[in-house]
Amino acid sequence: MTVKNRVLQASAHVAARFPRPLDCGLILGTGLGDIAAAVDKPVIIPYSEIPHFPQSTVAFHAGKLVLGNLAGQAVFLMQGRFHFYEGYSMQEITLPVRVMHQLGIRKVMITNAAGSIRPHLLPGTIAEIADHINLMGDNPLIGPHDPFLGERFPDMSEPYSVALRQLLRLTASEENIDLPRVVYAAVSGPSYETAAEIHMLQMIGADAVGMSTVPEVLVARQLGMQVVGLSVLTDQSLPEAMQPISHQMVSDISRQVNPQVTRLILGFLAKLEREK
Ligand code: HPA
Repeated sequence: MTVKNRVLQASAHVAARFPRPLDCGLILGTGLGDIAAAVDKPVIIPYSEIPHFPQSTVAFHAGKLVLGNLAGQAVFLMQGRFHFYEGYSMQEITLPVRVMHQLGIRKVMITNAAGSIRPHLLPGTIAEIADHINLMGDNPLIGPHDPFLGERFPDMSEPYSVALRQLLRLTASEENIDLPRVVYAAVSGPSYETAAEIHMLQMIGADAVGMSTVPEVLVARQLGMQVVGLSVLTDQSLPEAMQPISHQMVSDISRQVNPQVTRLILGFLAKLEREK
């Protein structure tokens, strides 16, 4: 089946369960799912019920779509996302972004847990993604082209919306959250990086490394959607002082900063709503 037909079927299922206009999409990374509990009168759809949605196979990822009101905005909130390392194709893991677009959403916030590779960026830091480097060895836009998917050769001069980033920074300063900017390098995983790989990532200008986000951003930009990205830096790897990393650690730290992330997202959505 074509990507287009999968998008149409999945969207029809969601629209039947939530027949109201949607304002904003949110993708929550590892351990960052708390904000889902703040959604007013939520309609909750397990991914297993949505045609063509993959299943979340990773611990600490809930695997459900939550629709409802958050800070005045009607949101399509993904509690748990899909990763390339789970064995799904790039097209499969990005299907939800296409569904968002089909449902009329033009703004999306994408969050993740990532590793810091810079001495000044300590674990527990919430960072704004300023730009990215795709090192995943694949691209979700590869394949037969259909104008339904957006442009064949999408521009990437502004992958993360300057206007939305400004709103996010304003919210962060109001919430007293220091929000350093990072260049996010996306790798396939699931193995964490070696010291030599961290060194390479530093040399090419990355500040953080993770295993998600970039595929969703590429698809959102192909469709002309505005994107804003947040990384929670859950661990730090420096070539001269490597320490073991575990998924448990990553998840524990991101849970610790969850309340701050929740405030940041709520404040940001309130600003989006005021701008409407
Ligand atoms: N490397 C890659 N992905 C990650 C890391 C990391 O150090 N931390 C959280 N996700």
